[in-house]
Amino acid sequence: MADNAFASSGREADAPESAGKPAVGTPAMGKPALGKPMGYVLSVNGSQSTVGLPAPVSVDNARATVGKFLSVRSGKSYLIGMITDVAADASPAAREYGCRAIARLDMMGEIRLRPDGKPFFQRGVTDYPAIGDEAALLTSEELRLVYDVSSDDTINIGQLQQDDTIGAYVNVNEMLSKHFAVLGTTGVGKSSGVAVILQQILDARPNLRIFLLDGHNEYGRCFGERAQVLNPRNLRLPFWLFNFEEFVDVIFGARPGVEEEVAILGEVIPRAKVAYNQYRSGSERPGIKRNDPRATGFTADTPVPYRLADLITLIDEQMGKLENRASRLTFHRLITRIETVRNDPRYTFMFDNANVGGDTMAEVLTQLFRLRSDGRPMTVMQLAGFPAEVVDSVVSVLCRMAFDFGLWSDGAVPLLFVCEEAHRYASADRNVGFGPTRRALSRIAKEGRKYGIFLGLVTQRPAELDATIISQCSTLFAMRMANDRDQALLRSAVSDAAANVLAFVPSLGTREVLGFGEGLALPTRLKFKELPRHMLPKSEATISARVENGTGDTDGFINTVVERWRGATMSHQQKTEEVKVDDGTQDIDTLAKGEFGAMPVNSGLTPDRFRILKKPLGASLEPESPPHESRRPVFR
Ligand SMILES: Nc1ncnc2c1ncn2[C@@H]1O[C@H](COP(=O)(O)OP(=O)(O)OP(=O)(O)O)[C@@H](O)[C@H]1O
Ligand SMILES: [Mg+2]
Repeated sequence: MADNAFASSGREADAPESAGKPAVGTPAMGKPALGKPMGYVLSVNGSQSTVGLPAPVSVDNARATVGKFLSVRSGKSYLIGMITDVAADASPAAREYGCRAIARLDMMGEIRLRPDGKPFFQRGVTDYPAIGDEAALLTSEELRLVYDVSSDDTINIGQLQQDDTIGAYVNVNEMLSKHFAVLGTTGVGKSSGVAVILQQILDARPNLRIFLLDGHNEYGRCFGERAQVLNPRNLRLPFWLFNFEEFVDVIFGARPGVEEEVAILGEVIPRAKVAYNQYRSGSERPGIKRNDPRATGFTADTPVPYRLADLITLIDEQMGKLENRASRLTFHRLITRIETVRNDPRYTFMFDNANVGGDTMAEVLTQLFRLRSDGRPMTVMQLAGFPAEVVDSVVSVLCRMAFDFGLWSDGAVPLLFVCEEAHRYASADRNVGFGPTRRALSRIAKEGRKYGIFLGLVTQRPAELDATIISQCSTLFAMRMANDRDQALLRSAVSDAAANVLAFVPSLGTREVLGFGEGLALPTRLKFKELPRHMLPKSEATISARVENGTGDTDGFINTVVERWRGATMSHQQKTEEVKVDDGTQDIDTLAKGEFGAMPVNSGLTPDRFRILKKPLGASLEPESPPHESRRPVFR
């Protein structure tokens, strides 16, 4: 043992035989804490070792039990292993070392010395223990060294289970660049964990943009002033940004399109684009029938503006040429379909003012992905208010635009794309969900990192998530999961060494996580930071509890619900008039035009900008709120 470079780390400080040994400096570890030898290596088998322990298996109240890390001093390094199994044992070999129990250790990494004498941690082991080597619980200093606590590249997301005085640190670059996923059954704290992680990332990487798909409108308040909140009322996503498949999905209400009608659309959309292009460039107003898309190269997928009126005119013209009544009916049905969707107030976000401001693609991208962040580098995209049949295509457009922006900008603006309820958009079952959404997510998962587009996935059902997508996530945060298939998937996703740790997964408590993969030094059991109540992700409609408690105004509550319900299907114009009556100064169209027209693109939307369109549910229950106070728009 005389050659052990860590003699001063304190491990031997209490051991009589080491007294008086010259100390070799371990500066980064500072003054060492005590790590009394707890046991001795009895056998070694590949990356597994058996360590004999005294019984009871504790020293100074530090208990050696499953999930804890032991370090084994072996030659010039400390080998770090996790206890996966503990059992009483009275074999002669154990008794020879004064041991009454054994622990099985999975060797996972080692602490070594740099040439300048500084210790560092590395994954994997280059050395193996020998029989009789001493093992001890990892000291706080060793844990700090393993988790690289003082590095700029790490973020603190909680506390270690082994020692809750030590933060759980994750390497943010590794975690982001190779994607991450948070998995766990409902109610275990996934969304809260994601809020913790994202808040830390916002602090550590102010130049990174974050785009969060919020399926249940939970995150509106979690990030305060640092995030813009988009919803169907303040989002403008012109229909011409949808590619052909997405547009067809919208027109056919997420049902399979009728083949003949889809073929007609495929032909007329490029022509409508040409017509608009000519119109914008000042040439004479359409001779659209003479326009040939081949001359301009527009396809049905090219994201350039066109007008629905032109589209309908083109279909109508084609219909006029037909004699056959049945064929005419096909054209007629298609026109009706387009008009129905266009007039549906729930689709305002994509059809209303879609061409105000001309080609607004740059503005839309700037707004969505906070390209001019202005201190708000994050977007929370609330999906709950969108018509159910259109959510998939909207998500598809957003994923695609995020990826394509990264691709065509050569990753100039790194973006983290976080997708809650990922199994809904990228189901393992090819018959479920919308193919283009799965493909768009899959593309980010497979190629995004080359273009600075990183993925964060959250799901309750990992087994239902497309396997290729989850397999691209190199850092996994596994929370409680009871389902066998989900556990099996997790087991297949991690290394053998980490797989042993997964035995804990069904018994984890709320906020508790097993983290493993690239972002973490070792497979780690940790607890996410506790979020203050006002920052917890919660659905905005959380007043039912108050009603149940009898503290709410039940009649007022029900009336507000009915009003909101009807409001969601009211025509846009009516709502605008309501605004005018109430306020008399601005209407939503003016705002929308301003947003995409004259207003500079860097003027971020405040989450409440269009609040007037949605009477806040809680408002009528607050006795102190003056009547109608909440209906007054807050325009800045
Ligand atoms: N980090 C945390 N800090 C404080 N409370 C938490 C934390 N994590 C979880 N909780 C508690 O657990 C509840 C459920 O957490 P959360 O909504 O994050 O779970 P979830 O896994 O996202 O659930 P679901 O699958 O239904 O979306 C929270 O409302 C909160 O009371
Ligand atoms: Mg959640």
